[in-house]
Amino acid sequence: MFSLLVRRDGLIDPPELGELDAHCHILPGIDDGPTDERGTLAIARLLIEMGVRRVVATPHVISDVFPNTTETIVSTVERVRRLLADSGLDLELTAGAEYYAEPELLDRISRRDLLSFGEERHVLFEAPVERAPMLLEEAVFSLKSAGYTPLLAHAERYRFLQTDEDAVKRLRELGVRFQVNHPSFLLPKTSRRGEMARRLYIKGLVDVLGTDMHRAATFAHRNAYAELRRQHRLR
Ligand SMILES: [Fe+2]
Repeated sequence: MFSLLVRRDGLIDPPELGELDAHCHILPGIDDGPTDERGTLAIARLLIEMGVRRVVATPHVISDVFPNTTETIVSTVERVRRLLADSGLDLELTAGAEYYAEPELLDRISRRDLLSFGEERHVLFEAPVERAPMLLEEAVFSLKSAGYTPLLAHAERYRFLQTDEDAVKRLRELGVRFQVNHPSFLLPKTSRRGEMARRLYIKGLVDVLGTDMHRAATFAHRNAYAELRRQHRLR
């Protein structure tokens, strides 16, 4: 899926993000993404500038914190599609979600009340960073049985995977695919997340890329996208 280039300094060149951003908090007012439509448009403009043409809107679904439903997400996506068209922005928007691995997720799976995307019916989900939750394997198994492909959000971030090669293998064997945040490839060698992203990439375990963008201004600043573009030009 991705081509691998090792630079003279031993670091790898980051893969191209490509035309699809499969993890993005672009919807206004329903999670910790933009608070209003201006913020949504700023994200859309930045994505277009980065070469993205299709984006999956993946707001958090966490029962106590962001109790989003399929209906609220779909109706917000429809509203944002109109907003993008009215603003002359050519960006295809798909309804998705970032589900938290909690008991309510198991209920959703049993009701088939999930927003999936792509031919493989990816369902993006996240877990606590430090320790794998007890229900992780059950959620993965249920998703597979229901015909979905479980897609672990920002797979490079989890301590329980960074420190345990066997845990990575086990999840793969269960059928979990990995989404990696594209900016993580820019992190220095001192960063656990950066090193994990590169390790997964070298092993061919990065299935899907995303920005996990929450706000355009902080994203552009924090992830130094200008620098990334410069590196690509110089390559
Ligand atoms: Fe996210």
